Amino acid sequence: MCHNDPDWPARDAGDRPLRRSYARNGVGSVHQGIHSASSMVRHPGAGCRESLERQGNQGNQGKGRFITLEGGEGVGKSTNLALVVDHLRARGHEVVATREPGGTPRAEVMRRLLLDPAGEEPLDPDAELLLVFAARAQHLARVIRPALERGAWVVCDRFTDATYAYQGGGRGIAASRIAELEHFVQQGFTPDLTLLLDMPVGLAQQRLDGRLQGQGGERDRFERERVSFFEAVRQAYLARAEAAPGRVVVIDAGAGLAAVQAELLARLDERLEAWS
Ligand SMILES: Nc1ncnc2c1ncn2[C@@H]1O[C@H](COP(=O)(O)OP(=O)(O)OP(=O)(O)O)[C@@H](O)[C@H]1O
Ligand SMILES: [Mg+2]
Repeated sequence: MCHNDPDWPARDAGDRPLRRSYARNGVGSVHQGIHSASSMVRHPGAGCRESLERQGNQGNQGKGRFITLEGGEGVGKSTNLALVVDHLRARGHEVVATREPGGTPRAEVMRRLLLDPAGEEPLDPDAELLLVFAARAQHLARVIRPALERGAWVVCDRFTDATYAYQGGGRGIAASRIAELEHFVQQGFTPDLTLLLDMPVGLAQQRLDGRLQGQGGERDRFERERVSFFEAVRQAYLARAEAAPGRVVVIDAGAGLAAVQAELLARLDERLEAWS
């Protein structure tokens, strides 16, 4: 799985829709700070796999960290990602802000396949799951691992917990099947810290409605799901947090923005202190 796309824009790994989306939230270019597509060894058939198969997060010990923001629709992930990025940059870190599904031009094409509500052909849940992991493989190879390997911090809007929540909790795919793909694609790689924004589904839907009205936007394929789907997503997220309390910090996202951000920064600072 060595990706050497000849058309890869080494100095501009971004994607226009993604860039617009993040600029709106004040984060700036998602790939700001990426100066080369990858620092992985690129000997044909050898180097990339070796690099990918380095177990766990050994590559970023004492260097960059991988932080994810998770939660259901409209809980404030994008809003708070901007805060986390600014906070880390103020401490002098190089920070790559990115998102899933997506984060590279090819992975953003897969994102559109996943989110596009149009079309007479329903997307099979297994195809949905495989697309999510295909996009993740591309994102890991082209953006996340190279950034961490050169010492940058990566802050990502959704990652594999979202797969367990949406394709697992929401669609009903067995966690064991998701775990197989997680192992295949990630080889033990996990976030150093996950900030899970949790709040009642009804309130999050109201926030989403407010945002969609403000932008005149349409609901995507997931946003059109039933309330029971979102309830299942929320419970699956909370189960992930319970199973990994050292990695996942649950933030009460139902409070006002100032209170949410104060809590989030306090929890983040605790972790930064522990890492220093
Ligand atoms: N604590 C808060 N209190 C009130 N409104 C909030 C709060 N946090 C975010 N919002 C608003 O709620 C809306 C949804 O926030 P945001 O877009 O950050 O959520 P999201 O989790 O990224 O959504 P999505 O799942 O669609 O990407 C926005 O209009 C945002 O300004
Ligand atoms: Mg968002």
